[in-house]
Amino acid sequence: MKRMKKWLAGFMILSMVICLLSACGETAAPEGDSGYTIDNIRNYVVGIDEKMELANGSKKTVTNFDNAATTPALQPVADEVEEELKKYGSIGRGFSPKSDYSTDLYNSTRDKVLEFVGADPEKYTVFYVNNTTDGLNKLASALIEDKSDVVLTTRIEHHSNDLPWRENGTVIYAEVDDQGRVMYDEIEKQLKKNKVKYVSVTAASNVTGYVTDVHRVAKLAHKYGAKIIVDGAQIVAHRKFSMLGETEDENIDFFVFSAHKMYSPYGGGAVVGLTDVLREHMPKFYGGGTINIVGDDWVEYADAPKSYEAGSPNYPGVIGLGKAIDILEEVGFDNIEAHEKVLNQKLVDGLLKMDNVIVYGDSEDLSDRVGVVTFNFSDINTHLLAEQLSQQYGIATRRGAFCANPYVWRLYGLTDEEVRNFAECSDVNTPGMIRVSFGIYNTEEEVDYLLKVLPDAIKRAKKENEENLGLANPLY
Ligand SMILES: Cc1ncc(COP(=O)(O)O)c(C=O)c1O
Repeated sequence: MKRMKKWLAGFMILSMVICLLSACGETAAPEGDSGYTIDNIRNYVVGIDEKMELANGSKKTVTNFDNAATTPALQPVADEVEEELKKYGSIGRGFSPKSDYSTDLYNSTRDKVLEFVGADPEKYTVFYVNNTTDGLNKLASALIEDKSDVVLTTRIEHHSNDLPWRENGTVIYAEVDDQGRVMYDEIEKQLKKNKVKYVSVTAASNVTGYVTDVHRVAKLAHKYGAKIIVDGAQIVAHRKFSMLGETEDENIDFFVFSAHKMYSPYGGGAVVGLTDVLREHMPKFYGGGTINIVGDDWVEYADAPKSYEAGSPNYPGVIGLGKAIDILEEVGFDNIEAHEKVLNQKLVDGLLKMDNVIVYGDSEDLSDRVGVVTFNFSDINTHLLAEQLSQQYGIATRRGAFCANPYVWRLYGLTDEEVRNFAECSDVNTPGMIRVSFGIYNTEEEVDYLLKVLPDAIKRAKKENEENLGLANPLY
C-alpha cells in the first residue's frame, strides 16, 4: 500500500511537470509519432479559424490563396519566438547571460541555414536580411562595382531581381518562350555575346510557378566566367533546394530568400554566398556592427557576415526562420510537392471547363510548377472579380501584374509601347491577372469552393461593371 502511494505521488508530480511544461507556451507536439505532416499542418496555422467581416456584413473564415505574397505564421514558429524572447539580450554586443545565449542562437542558426540549402560551411557564409528584396539589393550594392558591370537576368523575374541590377549595373535579359518558360539557349546566347559578370535568376516564378533549372544555368554561367545568384523567394517553402549541383560547375554561388514566405512572418531572410567573394566586397550600408575599429578619419571594416549586417539584428526574424526550416523539413518537401501538384491540377482542370477562361503558362504540362495558377476571363475585368471573391466569399487571391510587370506583359501579349498607355491608369484600368497561390495547408475542398463560387462571382462582377464602371474592354 505504502509502495502504491509512493508510485501515485511520483505519477502526480510527473503529471504536474508535464502540465507546467505544456503551459509554458510550447505548442503541444502533434499526436502520435507522426510529427508535423502535410495532413495535419493545417491544425497549426495561426488564424485559420479566424472569422473576418465580409463586405456584406457576414463573418467568415478566409480561404487564403495568396501564399506567394506571404504565408501565415505556424503556431510552433510563433511559440518558438515567444519562448526564445524570454532569453533575449543584445546580440554580439552585450555582457550578460541573455546576451551570450541570444548571440549563440543567432549565430548557430546560420549553420542551420547552410545545412538547409546544402552549402559547405567551409566555402559559404550566411548573412541575415529583412527579405529577398533587401538581400538582392545588398548583393547588388556590394558586388556591382560600376555601370560597366553586366548582369544577365531573364524576363521571368520579379522586380526585386531586376531593378537592383538596373540601378547598380548594366542589365541584359534572356527572353522567355511562348509559354513563359525560361529559355536556356537564350541565356547561353547572351553569355556568348556579352562579358557577363553575374547571372541572376529566380528559382521559381511568382506568376506562373515555373521552376527554373538553376543548376543548368549555373553550369552555363560558370562556362562563360560569370557567377550565379538565385532568387529563392518562391522555392524555399515549396521544393528542396540545394546549392550543390551534380558537378562543381553546377553549384550556386549566391542564394537569397525570405522567411515570411515560409510561415515565419517576423521579417527575416538570408543570403547564402561564397565567403571569398563576400569578403572582397561590402554593401553600401554602413554603421554599427560592421566594423573592427574606427578612428577619427579611418575605418577598419569587419569581414562578412558582419560587414553585411549593419545595425541591430532582427532576433525574432532569425528564430522564426530557424523553426520554419525545422517544420518544413519535417513535413517533407516531397510531400509538399505532391500536395501542390494535386491542387494545381484540380484548379486548372476546373478552370478549363469554364467559358472564356485564359490560364497562363502551359496548362497541359504542370509538372515544372510550384503551387501557383494564374488566370483571366476574357469577358470580365479581374480586378472586379478578385474584389467579389474577397468581399462576398472571403477568398484571398492577388490581382495585378505581381511585381513582375515585364513578364506579365509578355504573357498578355502586350508590347512595351502598348503598356506605356497604362502608366497613368488606375489599378482597375490596368491589365492584370488573378493569381491563386497555394500553401502547404490548403485543401482540395478549398479549391472546390473557389470553383463553385466563381460563376456567381463573375455574374456579380459583370453587374458591378455594368452599373458603376462601364469598362469597354473587360480585360482592362
Ligand atoms: C520571385 C520573387 N522574388 C522576390 C520577391 C521579393 O520578396 P520579398 O517581398 O520577401 O522581398 C518575391 C515576392 O513576392 C518573389 O515572388
